[in-house]
Amino acid sequence: MKHTDIKIITSDKENYLGRNVTVCGWIRTARDSKNMAFLEINDGTTLKHLQIVIDKGRFADPDPETMKLGASVRVCGKAVESRQGGVEIEAEEIHLLGKCPPDYPLQKKRHTLEFLRTMPHIRTRTNTFNAIFRVRSVMADAIHRYFQERGYVYVHTPLITGSDCEGAGEMFKVTTIGYNKKYNSAEEYYADDFFGKRAGLSVSGQLEGEVAAMAFSKIYTFGPSFRAEKSNTPRHVAEFWHVEPEVAFAELEDIIEIAEEMIKYIVSETIKKCPDEIAFFAQHFEKGLAEKLENLLTQDFAVLEYTKAIEILKSADKDFQYPVEWGCDLQTEHERYITEEVFNKPVFITNYPKDIKSFYMKQNPDGKTVAATDLLVPGVGEIIGCSEREADYDKLVDAMKQRNMNLDDYADYLDLRKYGSVPHSGFGLGFERILMYVTGIQNIRDVILYPRTVGSIR
Ligand code: 4AD
Ligand code: MG
Repeated sequence: MKHTDIKIITSDKENYLGRNVTVCGWIRTARDSKNMAFLEINDGTTLKHLQIVIDKGRFADPDPETMKLGASVRVCGKAVESRQGGVEIEAEEIHLLGKCPPDYPLQKKRHTLEFLRTMPHIRTRTNTFNAIFRVRSVMADAIHRYFQERGYVYVHTPLITGSDCEGAGEMFKVTTIGYNKKYNSAEEYYADDFFGKRAGLSVSGQLEGEVAAMAFSKIYTFGPSFRAEKSNTPRHVAEFWHVEPEVAFAELEDIIEIAEEMIKYIVSETIKKCPDEIAFFAQHFEKGLAEKLENLLTQDFAVLEYTKAIEILKSADKDFQYPVEWGCDLQTEHERYITEEVFNKPVFITNYPKDIKSFYMKQNPDGKTVAATDLLVPGVGEIIGCSEREADYDKLVDAMKQRNMNLDDYADYLDLRKYGSVPHSGFGLGFERILMYVTGIQNIRDVILYPRTVGSIR
């Protein structure tokens, strides 16, 4: 169906004035008066609607079905300057593509995000979701470009896996056998299952990413990860998109530099390519959003030792729900206090106690901490989990034994420490988390097309 995107006509107005064009879209507003009728249509290529002017003197009364909110139309007509200095179309032909009955849910101008969540297939037609998904697409492209321009190899790590990367017991099982009484033990059951052993959906591509980095030096993955987290929070989904670079010959301070540079790059690309969307979010969701993003580009992120963070939290004049002691995991309230109230900018917390972190992290000489860092940002909390990896075979085996892990499941991973082991580091960025930060949207369910959360799927 030959037609021109509304984005092209509205952003290159001079080129179109006086010309005949064909546009397509869905009706956003319709007004009818004695001599004239007006439609605003949107085709989703831009936040801007395009006004269609119908002169009833020249044109038979429009088909009432083309005046219904949500109906889809194809319009041919002349592009002319509107009274406000924009562009509008003087209709010559209007073809109805799809009717839309009055039970169409988007009759009102503004709905709450909660209400829109009940209809993921319809909410995409609102301005808010138009803006969110354009930013999502631009940011995904920026992530690929950041790594590609710097020579990283994009690898596709498996989604079905036999080894749990994070060891937090959050793996979804993959099985072809349903409920069955015939097995006497779990071993018997798994032996009979599709892979002949226990399998699950990957919580992270890191372990296989390390395999690739030990050959190509600089790699990244960008795909879905799955976590059966029972916690119902505004920051967790069971299926999220995960950006995971892995870099050989890199220590913790090197990977921190890369993480900061990458975040700044993708934010700056978004500011450049989505000015209308950022302005929209600033108006409706987070006052000062544009300034926040501009400031991010010019400031150095803070770097703070975990031990120092605990001191700050203990001396804070604040009643935390979860008490703070050296050795405790930081809760969202702690993370937000540090990044929002103490620094008011992104903060890398470094060198966490080894007992609260994963087996693969490099053990520091103090015997108590690991070379790991989380990047915390105001409004969201943790967006990146990062570490230098333990490259020493014996130390890695010790850490795994302390956690009662089955070494056989990690034989490939251990081999990497046997054959030409090198210092290497990587991180995982939660794509939806950075989207929340950049858009000011406060619930992760609103930055992904179909959120999967405990007790909810459609
Ligand atoms: O901190 P995490 O668990 O780190 C890892 O998985 C490492 N293997 C990454 C690596 O070093 N390659 O997860 C990384 C990030 C978190 O900081 C968070 O942004 C995001 O993934 N994330 C989630 N996002 C949405 N919903 C969830 N349930 C998430 N779990 C983690
Ligand atoms: Mg983490």
